[in-house]
Amino acid sequence: MPVFVDIDPRDFNINASEIEAVVAKRTKAIIPVHLFGQMADMSPIVETADKHGIPIVEDAAQAIGSEYQEKRAGSFGAAGCFSFFPSKNLGGFGDGGLVATNDEALAQRLRIIRNQGADPKYYHKALGGNFRLDALQAAVLRVKLKYLDAWTERRRANASYYTTRFTELGLTDGYIAPPPIVRERHVFNQYVIRARNRDALRSFLAQHGVSTEIYYPLPLHRQECISKAGFATAALPESEKAASEVLALPIYPELTDEDKEYVAQLIGHFYRAEEGAKARS
Ligand SMILES: Cc1ncc(COP(=O)(O)O)c(C=O)c1O
Repeated sequence: MPVFVDIDPRDFNINASEIEAVVAKRTKAIIPVHLFGQMADMSPIVETADKHGIPIVEDAAQAIGSEYQEKRAGSFGAAGCFSFFPSKNLGGFGDGGLVATNDEALAQRLRIIRNQGADPKYYHKALGGNFRLDALQAAVLRVKLKYLDAWTERRRANASYYTTRFTELGLTDGYIAPPPIVRERHVFNQYVIRARNRDALRSFLAQHGVSTEIYYPLPLHRQECISKAGFATAALPESEKAASEVLALPIYPELTDEDKEYVAQLIGHFYRAEEGAKARS
């Protein structure tokens, strides 16, 4: 049964200082999710895991190429999991993923599980599934991989442009909070702001042709599937607060300066109009 830990409001990642309190004898693994492209605070997480002899499984689905103290996401835990879903920084033309590990025995077990538990062919050693990366996805990803570093730099430059412009436009004075970079290297799978009157801002942007997304409208511990399964759902106030405030802006590598400026100007326009309406009422 999963036990959830609240997020650190600064980076939306697991709050490392709250893990120790929920670790129990039966804890099988600690799963930090490197959300939006910025890694969780791994030093204290590794310390807690080592102290209790619990493996770490990193969810690096959004964090390919992300770094913490010059080590890459997916290289801290017993295993690191990556996704090649099309919306990820390295996206295929369909579903796909990868597990990284330095443990040869675990690698062999994962290879077997990936292929219906067969080892050798037609002799099923374990209960597995079909988790193969199909050849078509592999071919696409092999070509796209060459561009990943350049695309990542574009995402980082886009993020820096937004943050600079939001500050210059006075939007960081109580209207929006750009994502703080609390550790390097953030790869900006998403550029997530906190926004005052978020839902109205989102509608306004949509009316002007700017797509945004809410990651995520309902925290995991409040999902129907979790409560139906009877899992404990302690209050996680920071996760709940974030769900009501966050908004992901377009950040993909191909955005032009005009695109980004348009988004920044629209947000400025929205809050100026809001202030104007307030002053008139
Ligand atoms: C943080 C995170 N974990 C896990 C997943 C699941 O990845 P996949 O869709 O490849 O199974 C995703 C992507 O959807 C994700 O963003």
